[in-house]
Amino acid sequence: MKVRGLRLSMALLSACCLACGDSTDWASKGPTDEKYSQVELSLGEAVYSDTCSACHGQNGSGNFGPDLVGKGHKYSYKEQRSLVARGRRSMPGFGASLTDAEIDAVVAYIRVGFFGESTK
Ligand code: HEC
Repeated sequence: MKVRGLRLSMALLSACCLACGDSTDWASKGPTDEKYSQVELSLGEAVYSDTCSACHGQNGSGNFGPDLVGKGHKYSYKEQRSLVARGRRSMPGFGASLTDAEIDAVVAYIRVGFFGESTK
């Protein structure tokens, strides 16, 4: 009986790990300390809500795609930018449909903009 219960909870635990994938609470890490101009962040916000929010949620909270809040601590700027430009698995690449300036801006926005601290 005891062994069975343990096995069951181990099975549940590993099922959860598979589903969640990443157990780090990235959102609690807040924005990166990079500074971007307000102009760039406004452009980034517009690009984000037009192009990304359907899959990643209006505030980066995740939907079809993973949540993005705080992920500036998981990926460097360069890594995130190339992911957005080239895509990865079921994430389409935007290198052809967005300009370089739009990609720069949207990456800036997802790294600091969800927190509303970027305007300081
Ligand atoms: C069609 C839906 C879709 C759209 C539109 C989309 N994404 Fe994604 N995105 C995904 C999926 C799915 C993943 C997970 C990719 C994987 O499994 O490797 C992802 C992953 C990411 C990641 C990595 C997240 C992580 O924690 O690993 C970033 C950053 C990202 N997307 C940014 C963007 C940005 C910025 C835009 C808009 C320019 C955008 N995405 C538009 C579906 C989308």
